[in-house]
Amino acid sequence: MKKIKWGILGPGRIAEKLAVAIQQSENAELYAVGSRSLDKAANFAKRFGASQSYSSYEELCSDDKLDVIYIATPHSYHCEHSMLAMKHGRNVLCEKPFALDAGEAQKMIQCAKDNNVFLMEAMWSRLLPGMKKVQELLAANAIGPIKMMSADFCFTSSPEDKPRLFEPALGGGALLDVGIYPLTLACSFFGFPKSIEAEADLTDKGVDATSTYFLNFANGAKAELYSSVVKESPGQAIIEGEEGTLTIHAKAWTLQKITLKNGVEKTFDTSYEGSDYLLQVEEVNQCLRQGLKESSVNSFEWTMNMMQLMDDLRDIMGVNYKTGTKA
Ligand SMILES: NC(=O)c1ccc[n+]([C@@H]2O[C@H](COP(=O)([O-])OP(=O)(O)OC[C@H]3O[C@@H](n4cnc5c(N)ncnc54)[C@H](OP(=O)(O)O)[C@@H]3O)[C@@H](O)[C@H]2O)c1
Repeated sequence: MKKIKWGILGPGRIAEKLAVAIQQSENAELYAVGSRSLDKAANFAKRFGASQSYSSYEELCSDDKLDVIYIATPHSYHCEHSMLAMKHGRNVLCEKPFALDAGEAQKMIQCAKDNNVFLMEAMWSRLLPGMKKVQELLAANAIGPIKMMSADFCFTSSPEDKPRLFEPALGGGALLDVGIYPLTLACSFFGFPKSIEAEADLTDKGVDATSTYFLNFANGAKAELYSSVVKESPGQAIIEGEEGTLTIHAKAWTLQKITLKNGVEKTFDTSYEGSDYLLQVEEVNQCLRQGLKESSVNSFEWTMNMMQLMDDLRDIMGVNYKTGTKA
């Protein structure tokens, strides 16, 4: 069967990892790379075996041999670059966070519909086998009524190391970069919350260096989640029920090992072959082969709810990027 031809727009750090996942997929090939610098595009293309390199994003999007373009630029460009690709008739996989805010996300989804193309958020954790396993255990009432979930995703960075994380104009801060992962776990297990609270330590430029989110769900469960770009944390998730606990071992967002304690103790190996991003590449390949315009897992509804939740958390924390549709 003909391989799905992928293009990468913005060959930076994460794009390298996605390129490896494309190489690992039997259904895909990396065909083209578009950068603001031809040298950079050509170098990346050579390293990962792409035949085409372009010195502008516009040129990349104009190549009608492409089946799908992966948007890997900083958060604040996701809307502009996804829409550029879609207006050229290209299908799009857009990195997380899907956009800066819900208003931008809505514009992107409308653009996909107007141009009759596929669009998906690259929230790869939702496609992993461990996600299904936890959902199945909770549905089977393995730990009784849920009381509390705690989870975190923190790492140490600096403006010198990763400038985009500290710049309001690039959508900096912990929430959109890593807070989205514990939020994704909690909301994938319990649905979106009925009420929320949040606290943050802001940098002098006003983005959240560290932030904590308190969620209350309709089933009575609560979650306390935190994220940071200036310190480390254990990176595990614990769900406490009235009759037991589920531990998703670090790094919880990769969902590779889960321990159930409910009188007896059982550990499930939910690791997977290949790159963390391979199943996401396969989800896109499969949707395109089936002529779908939306993934049933990373659906538009999921993405809109997540963007709205992060907008609401940002309002409580007082984080304003002064760009995007909420500026
Ligand atoms: N799924 C995951 O696990 C994961 C992990 C890390 C990051 N991400 C997401 O992926 C996106 C990119 O993250 P990254 O760490 O790969 O970013 P990065 O390396 O800092 O930047 C990616 C690329 O964006 C392009 N770009 C366009 N305008 C830019 C600007 N004004 N400033 C800087 N770069 C610009 C650059 O490509 P050219 O210069 O070649 O045009 C750059 O190489 C983020 O939204 C992030 O949340 C996802």
